[in-house]
Amino acid sequence: MEIIKTKADMQAWSKNKKKESRTLCFVPTMGYLHQGHVSLMEKGRPLCDELVLSIFVNPTQFGPNEDLSSYPRNIENDLSLAEKAGVTAVFLPIKEDIYPENFQTEIKLQSLPNHLCGKFRPVHFAGVAVVVTKLFNIVMPDKAVFGMKDYQQLQIIRQLVLDLDFDIEIVAGDIIREKDGLAMSSRNAYLSKSERTSALSLSRSLALAKELLAKGEKNTADIRSKIDSLIHSFPETKVEYVSFCQPETLEEIKVIEKKVLLALAVKVGKTRLIDNALIDPAQ
Ligand code: PAF
Repeated sequence: MEIIKTKADMQAWSKNKKKESRTLCFVPTMGYLHQGHVSLMEKGRPLCDELVLSIFVNPTQFGPNEDLSSYPRNIENDLSLAEKAGVTAVFLPIKEDIYPENFQTEIKLQSLPNHLCGKFRPVHFAGVAVVVTKLFNIVMPDKAVFGMKDYQQLQIIRQLVLDLDFDIEIVAGDIIREKDGLAMSSRNAYLSKSERTSALSLSRSLALAKELLAKGEKNTADIRSKIDSLIHSFPETKVEYVSFCQPETLEEIKVIEKKVLLALAVKVGKTRLIDNALIDPAQ
């Protein structure tokens, strides 16, 4: 497994592989890898000849009061998981190489970021769009894998690829859960023992919504109020949003007639957690 630290070396490596007609699959991450990331790497590994992983805690996607400075890091463990998952090159850029002095470009999508997390994290998706665009231009992959846990991010990347004509196939990876249902996330590392129990309120909410839908409940306001009560029955929780929306546009739905995305964000103590499920009332 090669470890590549500069933009120029990464571009040279990718150009070389392309010259040899080798295809490249890419998994971008912010590190502190867990089984969710491992599943993205395992999904990407058979899709192309080479598998590139990037680890970069992207400062532009964090708001001023968010957890950029405390974001968990463990590079040794990351490299060992990457090697085991069959990664052929790891790109570990430094901030100055990605955002040199006088960096000016912004990428703004008009509608997808106005929903769900975007309402509460106003700079987040602009930061994601710009870093992913740059990483795509540096790594030049044929395919790239993004997890469904960040469903809104996945939709935004799909739109970005379409709008900016990237010749890259976007592959979606399933949400990976702990045995008790908690969706895996690097931020789970912040949770105390009692918060870890309260973090189950998210996956339990998804299960409750599925149950209510199976019983014929269609009104999202009614389902949402039951979910709110369920979440509040867990200590140290604060609901940020519980949203039923159209899976492509992310627009809110009032009455569930066909497949919907149920997405939610809950603060457990100081930790902001998200989860989601695509729910089809016909099934
Ligand atoms: O999903 C993430 O870890 C990040 O948002 C990404 C896509 C690596 C961009 O920084």
